[in-house]
Amino acid sequence: MPPAPPPSLSTWARNIAPSPTLAVDAKAKALAAAGQDVCSFAAGEPDFDTPQHIKDACAAALQSGKTKYVATSGIEELRSAVAESYGTAYGLKVAPGQVVVSPGGKFSCFLAVLATCSPGDEVVIPAPYWVSYPQMAKLAGAVPKPVLSTDRSAFKLTPEQLDAAITGRTRLLILNSPNNPTGAVYSRAELEAIVGVAVRRNIYILSDEIYENLVYDGLRTTCTATLGPEAEARTIIVSGFSKTYSMTGWRLGTLVGPPAIAKAVAELQSQMSSNATTFAQYGALAALKEKEKTRASLERMLAAFDRRRLLMHAGLSNIPGVSCLLAQGAFYLFPNISSFGLSSLEFCEALLERERVAVVPGSAFGAEGYVRMSYATGDETIVKGLARLANFCRGLKA
Ligand SMILES: Cc1ncc(COP(=O)(O)O)c(C=O)c1O
Repeated sequence: MPPAPPPSLSTWARNIAPSPTLAVDAKAKALAAAGQDVCSFAAGEPDFDTPQHIKDACAAALQSGKTKYVATSGIEELRSAVAESYGTAYGLKVAPGQVVVSPGGKFSCFLAVLATCSPGDEVVIPAPYWVSYPQMAKLAGAVPKPVLSTDRSAFKLTPEQLDAAITGRTRLLILNSPNNPTGAVYSRAELEAIVGVAVRRNIYILSDEIYENLVYDGLRTTCTATLGPEAEARTIIVSGFSKTYSMTGWRLGTLVGPPAIAKAVAELQSQMSSNATTFAQYGALAALKEKEKTRASLERMLAAFDRRRLLMHAGLSNIPGVSCLLAQGAFYLFPNISSFGLSSLEFCEALLERERVAVVPGSAFGAEGYVRMSYATGDETIVKGLARLANFCRGLKA
C-alpha cells in the first residue's frame, strides 16, 4: 500500500487568490532579469528612494540598540506624532490611544476587517477595488459584496448604489480615496453623501487613505472621520508610510479608530505579529518630526508624478480605441480598452508577449474592460512604453 497523502490544505489556503498585481510585477521583473527590454507599468510603489533623513534616523536607532520588542501598538513617540498629524492636516482630535502602528497598511486593513466582521457578515466594496479587500473579507469568513462604478461615473460609488447594496448582514463599507487602481478622489460633498448613508444604516467604514498625500491639481483630500461625530464613531482610518515617504519595504502602516476598535486591533495584532519593526518606527518618527526635509522630498516626488501623469494621459488619449480619465490622485491611470474586444487579461498577456509592456488587467480589480498603469516609473519608460502600446493597439485594430 502506498503511504496516504498528507491532509489537504485549509479552506483559507485553498480559497485565497494570490495578489495579481504582485504576480504581473514579478513576471515583468523576471523577464527583465533574463535580459529582456521590458517597460513595466505594474508596480504599486514609488520609484524614489526613502528620503535620507528617514534612513539616517532608522540607522541611528539600530546602532543605539532599538532592537527589542516594544508596545504592540507602536512606540509612544510615533503614536503621538501620528495622532498630532491628524490634528495638523485635518483638524481631527486623535488621542495616541486611538493609534495602532502595524507592519504595513495592508495588515492594518486586514485587522480592521477582523475587528469589525464576523463569519457571514457582508462587506460592501466599491469596484474597481484594491485587489486585497475581497480576499481580506473572505479570510475573516465574511462575504465581499462588490458594487461596480465605471468611467461614466468617474469610478465613484453613489449614495444610491450604497443604500441598495446594504442588507441586514452588512457590517462594513471599504472606501479608498485617492483610489487604487483608478486614481479617483472623492470630493468632500461626495464623501458626505456616502458616509451619510453608512451612518443612517449603521455600518462601519474602513477608510483607506494611504494615498492621502498624493493628489494633484491643487486638490485636498477629505479625511472621512472629519465628517461629524457619527461618522467619526464608525470610521477606521488606515494610512501608512509606504506611499507618501517611499517606504514600501519598511512595512509600516497606521490605523486610527474609535478607542474600542483601536483596542481590539491592538489585541489582534498582539497575537498575530507583535509590534512593527522597532528601529523602522524611529525612521517613521523622523518622517513626521523633520517636517521641512520631509516636505521637500514629498514635493519633489509629487512634481515628478504630476509630470508623468500628464505625459501618460496625453499619450493614452492619442491612441485610437483607448479612452482614459485624467485621475487626480495616487499614481495610477485606468484606461478603458474595451473597444478592442479582448478580455483585460487577454489584452495584458498579449501586450507583454508581443511588446514587452507590463500592465495589470482590470479584472484583478473587479472591473473588466480596463487596465491599470502605474506612472511611478521613469519618463523614458513612459515614452517608450506608450509607443509600444500604441503599436500593439494599431495591430489589434488592423
Ligand atoms: C489602496 C492600498 N491600500 C493599502 C496598501 C498597503 O500598503 P502597505 O502595506 O505597503 O502599507 C496599498 C499598497 O499597494 C494600497 O494600494
